[in-house]
Amino acid sequence: MNEPMYRVAHGGCVRGEVTVPGDKSVSHRSVLFGGIAEGTTEVDNFLESEDCLATLGAMRAMGVVIERPSAGRVIVDGVGLHGLKKPSHALDMGNAGTAMRLSMGLLAGQAFDATLVGDPSLTRRPMERAATPLRLMGARIDTTAGKPPVTIHGGATLAGIDYRLEVASAQVKSAILIAGLYAHGRTTVTEPAVTRDHTERMLRAFGVSVDSKDGRVSLEGGQTLKATHLTVPGDISSAAFFLVAGVLAAEGPFLVRNVGINPTRTGILDILRLMGADIRLKNERLAGDEPVADLEVHRSDLHGIDVPEHLVPLAIDEFPVLFVAAAVAKGTTRVTGAEELRVKESDRIAVMAEGLRHLGADATPTPDGMVIHGGHLHGGRVASHGDHRIAMSFAVAALRASGDLTISDVANVATSFPGFAALARGAGIAIEESR
Ligand code: S3P
Repeated sequence: MNEPMYRVAHGGCVRGEVTVPGDKSVSHRSVLFGGIAEGTTEVDNFLESEDCLATLGAMRAMGVVIERPSAGRVIVDGVGLHGLKKPSHALDMGNAGTAMRLSMGLLAGQAFDATLVGDPSLTRRPMERAATPLRLMGARIDTTAGKPPVTIHGGATLAGIDYRLEVASAQVKSAILIAGLYAHGRTTVTEPAVTRDHTERMLRAFGVSVDSKDGRVSLEGGQTLKATHLTVPGDISSAAFFLVAGVLAAEGPFLVRNVGINPTRTGILDILRLMGADIRLKNERLAGDEPVADLEVHRSDLHGIDVPEHLVPLAIDEFPVLFVAAAVAKGTTRVTGAEELRVKESDRIAVMAEGLRHLGADATPTPDGMVIHGGHLHGGRVASHGDHRIAMSFAVAALRASGDLTISDVANVATSFPGFAALARGAGIAIEESR
């Protein structure tokens, strides 16, 4: 079967407004926590992407009844902290690192064994970072040379730990906190840098007492979750493609509606503004426990910067499209302290440098980032390496390229952003999907 590809005509502009789909991180957590809560949790604006449907499928496979009565609406009949059942098969997490690592934390506290598997990309990603602290809590976990498949043996007695994360990872923090719900005593996680705090916020929405202070997050084991109603904010990581598109090529004010602006996720706004972007927050409000706003983007002349390292975890998923912005900015952009990009859905440092250089950019990968001297992009064919965010980033690059782009292997855009091509087309990007 031929892999789908994008053909994107060069130039043009974006105009009007777009509304991006729900947040991936929040959607995963909504069905996971809803599943172990007591009572029925209703979720609106759930992201019906392949990644989040993997988490939903895993919860169903463990006996949770989940209905999807209409688009974006999910109703989860929670079974309580100890009501999950042994799945009859391995749980397939597809492309989703979040699904796998959070599930490791969940399964550490169950009475039954389960095995987690993933697609070829996920099967190359490191899982010991979650397994190691969970083992310190008493969990019995086998990885396959540090990677999936991962088997979690049931029946372990867990005890709370006080753990300092080796890498700034919200997924690992979350896995430990979820296991902490099943542990005796107190579980504390110290972060080396601020990472997204959706787990902490959502656990509180489910009535769990979680303390966060000075980079330390802790909770007491044995607390029950009480069903709630959740509204998922639009995903700023999906909005990022349109933010950069607007900065590079907006005709008039370009509005990206209903975007989550949780301060642990807004590194993209800070970095683009440091580069000279004009992005304004309008209509700030709350979607449940998460702040949202409409983002008004104005075409701006960008200049290169040294990206402050403390912003890296706050924009970790947005670097592919930020590299595109840097490639057409005036002057030099340096990204350091971002070695985590090498273990995402692809090696995003290598893959972005390869694609940008292929389009004529002066981009030099480094072990922990990239140095980009901004300039001119020409057309050509670039490989997404099956990574959703690489595919969408190059679609945005076409706005400022001097020739058309072909982007191969784009099926995985559906893992985070179903409908991206149609939405981009509606905004003015001349993008076609074909086989
Ligand atoms: C996520 C955390 C980040 C991010 C991923 C989603 C989450 O990963 O890259 O897309 O939902 O917790 P790390 O925490 O491992 O950096």
